[in-house]
Amino acid sequence: MASNADPIAFRNALGSFATGVTIVTTRDAAGQDCGLTANSFNSVSLDPPMVLWSLARNSMSMDAFRNADHFAVHILAADQEPLSNGFAKRGADKFAGLTLERGAGDVPLLAGCAARFQCRTAYQYEGGDHVIFVGEVIAFDHDDRAPLLFHGGRYALAARRAAALTASDAADAEAPGRFGEDFLGYLLGRAHFQLYARMQTSLAEHGLDATGHFALSILGIQDGRTAQEIADMIGFTGARLTDDHSRSLTERGIVRRDEPDGRLWLTDAGRRTLIELAAAAKAAEEDALGAFDDNETALLKHLLKHVIRHTDPGLPDPWASDRGAD
Ligand SMILES: Cc1cc2nc3c(=O)[nH]c(=O)nc-3n(C[C@H](O)[C@H](O)[C@H](O)COP(=O)(O)O)c2cc1C
Repeated sequence: MASNADPIAFRNALGSFATGVTIVTTRDAAGQDCGLTANSFNSVSLDPPMVLWSLARNSMSMDAFRNADHFAVHILAADQEPLSNGFAKRGADKFAGLTLERGAGDVPLLAGCAARFQCRTAYQYEGGDHVIFVGEVIAFDHDDRAPLLFHGGRYALAARRAAALTASDAADAEAPGRFGEDFLGYLLGRAHFQLYARMQTSLAEHGLDATGHFALSILGIQDGRTAQEIADMIGFTGARLTDDHSRSLTERGIVRRDEPDGRLWLTDAGRRTLIELAAAAKAAEEDALGAFDDNETALLKHLLKHVIRHTDPGLPDPWASDRGAD
C-alpha cells in the first residue's frame, strides 16, 4: 500500500475514478470572461438543486471565482476534447473565436455541450490546496450528446455495457487454453466475413469477386496505379490479383489500361460501379451497427483503428496521398 506522503501515487489512485469533463466559466470584476477545465464537478443536492467543484489555489482564475456571484458549469460532449484542452491552458485567451451566449450574471455560456448549469455561488469552503465552490443551480439545459470522460489521466469515451455475458463467454474466460468465442481473431474475422457476405449479391451483379472489388476500391482511392502496385496493397488479405483480373476489368469497360506503363484508370462506368458498391457497403455497415448509438460506433471504429495500427507490419497505405505523404 502506498503512503499518503506520495502525491503522485495519490493522484494516480484518484485517477481510478472515472469522471466527466466540465468547463466552468465566470466573469471577473473587470468584465473579463474566465474559465477552466475541471473534472472535480459533482452533484450535491436535488432540493434545492446544488452542485460543487473545486479550484486549485494556484489557478489564475482564483480571484475571479472567489468574487463572482455566478458561474456556469458545462458538461462536455465527446467531441469537445479540443475545447477541454484549450481551457486547461493556464492563463491563455481561452474564449477567442468561440460563439458565446450570456447567462445569469452575464457569465459566458459555451455551445455544443451535453449539459449546462447556471449557478449562483452559494458557499465556498477551504479544501487543502483547492477551494470548493458550491453553486445553487438557477437554470440548466441539456442535450442528448455522448459525454467526454476522463480516466487514468486520459480522455475516454463511454460505452454502454452489453447485455449480461452469455454462459459461453464466461466459460471462455475461464478456459484460456481453449479456442473459443472470445478469441479476438475469431471475433474480427467473423464480423468481417458476415459483413462482407452482405455485399456478395451486389458484387455478383457487377461480375466481380472479392479480389476485383479490392482492386477497384484501391483505384477508387487513387487511380493511375499499376497492377503490381495494387497487388502489393491488397496482398495482405490473401487476395492474388492476376492478369485475368486486370483483363476482365478492362474488357468490361470498368478500367482503362494505359500503355506502355500499364497504369490502370477508372472509367466513368467504373466510377458508377464503385458508387453502387459503396452504397451496398454502407447499407451493410448501417445494418451491422444498428445495435450501437453514435458514440459506441465511434468507439468501436476507434478501437479497431488502434488494433490495425498496433499490428501493422508496415503495409503500404492506400490513403497516403490523401494524407499528404506523396
Ligand atoms: C481533465 C482535466 C480536469 C481538470 N480538473 C481541474 C479541477 O477540477 N480543478 C482545477 O483547479 N484544475 C483542473 N484542471 C486543470 C486546469 O484546467 C488548468 O490548471 C488550467 O490551466 C487552469 O487555468 P487558469 O490557471 O487559467 O485558471 C483540470 C485539467 C484537465 C485537463
